[in-house]
Amino acid sequence: MNKVIVTGGAGYIGSHTCLKLIELGYEPLIIDNLSNTSIENIKGVESITNKKLNFYELDCCSAQKLDMIIKKENGIIGAIHFAAYKSVEESVREPEKFFYNNLKSLESLIDVMINQNLNNLIFSSSCTVYGSPDSLPVDENAPFKKAESPYGETKQLCEKIIEKSTLFSVCLRYFNPIGSHNSGLIGDRSADKPANLVPIICEVAYGKREKLIINGNDYNTKDGTCVRDYIHVEDLALAHINALEYCIKNKSKSIFNIGTGQGLSVAETVRIFEECNNIKVNLEYGPRRTGDVAEIYSDTKKSSKYLKWKSEKSISDALKSAWNWELNKT
Ligand code: UD1
Repeated sequence: MNKVIVTGGAGYIGSHTCLKLIELGYEPLIIDNLSNTSIENIKGVESITNKKLNFYELDCCSAQKLDMIIKKENGIIGAIHFAAYKSVEESVREPEKFFYNNLKSLESLIDVMINQNLNNLIFSSSCTVYGSPDSLPVDENAPFKKAESPYGETKQLCEKIIEKSTLFSVCLRYFNPIGSHNSGLIGDRSADKPANLVPIICEVAYGKREKLIINGNDYNTKDGTCVRDYIHVEDLALAHINALEYCIKNKSKSIFNIGTGQGLSVAETVRIFEECNNIKVNLEYGPRRTGDVAEIYSDTKKSSKYLKWKSEKSISDALKSAWNWELNKT
């Protein structure tokens, strides 16, 4: 009795979570349509753990097929749901696609779980649900603000669907996931051109891009650049296992922030990257990016008290691992 459904298990956070599940004695049952990742992440987890993975290439939106697969498996104790589109910019261009896929994949998983008397759903949410919070650090009781993008709106709607379902659940609101496993075998393999800060810093350091444009230095923050809470993806992955165990034990619905609690500015992040990797990053200040909030970082009290989880890795560990992925990714 240790099987865990992992939808989107071949993705960036999903593959790191599958690895942690295996390390802790669980068996991931991976459902992924490989639409925005690669089979290499599955092979990577297999190669690190020396285990053959139970992987089905399937779109989670097909409830019928999902039902057939899950029916064949015994000993399922819960599900971790990652399968969703994630590019904020693409969600602005093609909102219908985001609303359809992100809501449908969740609804079909919930239907199948209820149909087969399965319980315990862990959901991949985001701090984007808070919009621009009124006070910092932001805790889980802060209200939803108007979503900055259709992507953010899908996360808010998914949380509401889960709230209304009969399942026991944990929604994890991630802050900014960065870094990779040091093997260089698993990581972010999405087809999207990088749009997030750390992958762009890496491309500039590597020489794939001429320079980093810092989006605004006139915010009301410590140095005028935006402040975020960057969390190592391996720490984030572990939070899912704690969440699953918590969900099984407490038979309830809950929500947790998953961040370090540390707010770092864009300029500080670049400086630390340069120092810990001993490499220069060309940069230039540009205008603000539409939809950015000035400052957000997490209140970690609730996750530390109830999930018994806190981030262990430093920002330097995370930025070194991000650079290692850029240099050594397979
Ligand atoms: C965004 C999403 C978040 C999602 C995360 C990971 C929003 C509000 N947030 O976070 O929900 O989980 O991506 O996909 O949509 N920056 C630059 N130059 C660049 C790139 C970024 O200065 O070339 C700045 C941004 O303006 C921002 C900071 O770096 O201030 C972090 O940006 P990014 O890595 O894109 O993450 P978020 O926008 O915080």
